[in-house]
Amino acid sequence: MRVLVLGGRGFIGRHVVAALRQRGHDVQIGGRRADATAPVPVRALALHRLLQPADWRAALAEVDAVVNCVGILRERWAQTYARVHCQGPAALAAACAERGLRLVHVSALGLGAPARSRFIRSKRAGEQALRAAHPDAVIVRPSLLDGEGGFGARWIRRVAQWPVQLLPGSARGQIAALQVSELGEVIAALVAAPGPGCPREVELGGPDALPMSELLLRLRAPGRGAPLQIALPAWLARIGSHVCDLLHFSPFSFGHLELMGRANVPATNAAAQWLGRPPAPVGGCAAARGLAGPALERAA
Ligand SMILES: NC(=O)c1ccc[n+]([C@@H]2O[C@H](COP(=O)([O-])OP(=O)(O)OC[C@H]3O[C@@H](n4cnc5c(N)ncnc54)[C@H](OP(=O)(O)O)[C@@H]3O)[C@@H](O)[C@H]2O)c1
Repeated sequence: MRVLVLGGRGFIGRHVVAALRQRGHDVQIGGRRADATAPVPVRALALHRLLQPADWRAALAEVDAVVNCVGILRERWAQTYARVHCQGPAALAAACAERGLRLVHVSALGLGAPARSRFIRSKRAGEQALRAAHPDAVIVRPSLLDGEGGFGARWIRRVAQWPVQLLPGSARGQIAALQVSELGEVIAALVAAPGPGCPREVELGGPDALPMSELLLRLRAPGRGAPLQIALPAWLARIGSHVCDLLHFSPFSFGHLELMGRANVPATNAAAQWLGRPPAPVGGCAAARGLAGPALERAA
């Protein structure tokens, strides 16, 4: 199949591209800027500019399926949440539906409950607009992802090595972190799945559900002692998240502060079904190193 991967140079997109090529598909990448010299050439397909179905027709003329791995953590100028997460994907979905193309859209877990964050609300609105435009599109909701090279994953791995770790006191939601390479494999399998056997919503996670404090212990390098984990009061964590948003600093955003307070665990985990094996755990085994346990010092 000829598959267009939007956001194919991103953390998730790179793994989707690799898994699709592994299966022998002919892959094209879409991004904000064209790059003809990249190993897989990149076409300029900026979602915040392609807001009508007609804007997508030329881009879809020679593809059989599309995977949308595009997302932004923070808005920049015309790249607003509304355009990138909602209007662009809705136009894409309508254009795919017109041509009868399989569309796999990467969303996230934890969007269902009411949220104050515009990031979360735009992602949920994006799912709804996409579904209205393309009733057969596949919406994939992965849990938090671990792996090499992701912006958030790199920060979480870094913080896991610090001797003192500040965590929002509200960050008690269980997280079933998944390996990003396994998400790539699942998406490649969904792209090629026969129509009748393909679900419209797929929730994915790793084998263990842990709060952020325990996940950090899992990701701590062997030989390091137990860190001091300090819970920030809600007001301080909230101010910190808004400051990070203003400065575009770190993946700690107001949206992720809200997400950390809720479960990031699939209602029904489809990972094993689509991988053909159980998903792999993330990080080493903290319990075996004697780190697991109530390391969190409550300040809140
Ligand atoms: N990382 C996680 O743990 C995780 C977990 C669950 C869900 N998700 C969701 O998965 C999506 C992707 O996450 P990621 O970690 O792969 O992010 P990422 O590494 O930042 O990649 C995002 C990709 O989106 C593309 N992009 C951004 N704005 C664009 C625009 N206006 N038009 C076209 N392309 C644009 C970028 O392409 P160029 O830079 O090449 O232009 C980049 O390749 C997000 O929606 C995120 O919420 C992520």
